[in-house]
Amino acid sequence: MWKCEVVVGAELDVAEVAELYRASTLAERRPVEDVERFAAMVRQANLIVTARHEGRLIGIARSLTDGVYATYLSDLAVDRAYQRQGVGRALIEATREAAPLASVVLLAAPAAVNYYPRVGFKQHTSAWVLDRPE
Ligand SMILES: CC(C)(COP(=O)(O)OP(=O)(O)OC[C@H]1O[C@@H](n2cnc3c(N)ncnc32)[C@H](O)[C@@H]1OP(=O)(O)O)[C@@H](O)C(=O)NCCC(=O)NCCS
Repeated sequence: MWKCEVVVGAELDVAEVAELYRASTLAERRPVEDVERFAAMVRQANLIVTARHEGRLIGIARSLTDGVYATYLSDLAVDRAYQRQGVGRALIEATREAAPLASVVLLAAPAAVNYYPRVGFKQHTSAWVLDRPE
């Protein structure tokens, strides 16, 4: 059985995390090949939950939180071989439990728009994004 736990990003093996992003398909939409930037994403996120099965990294929820008001769930990724077994749901629950007073906010990837309503999220009609400058 797999197990979820809150971990310190700076202690994770960045190459192992990159491999999970590839195994989940999320690497198609995250700068995994930009090693320095991806390492900063892993080290500087202040709320990371991992799921492991027999030591192997099979899921991750990577968030930024103030701990009491807002948690931005930037990346949720589950290895394709372990999808649809409740890992994503457990990662979200552990993220929420780590900062129970905070709302969890995210932007869904196209393939996951039908996922979030199933795990309790409400769609927000006025979410706005300021893209980084070209
Ligand atoms: C989206 C993702 C995180 C879901 O994780 P998961 O562990 O497979 O999902 P869970 O097992 O927790 O699923 C919970 C429920 O949602 C359903 N579900 C799972 N993926 C779904 C999807 N893509 N669309 C709609 N429903 C989905 C499950 O069937 C399950 O339903 P149930 O409660 O009736 O049994 C995972 O599929 C993934 O990593 N996808 C690729 C990366 C990605 O797009 N990440 C999202 C970035 S915003």
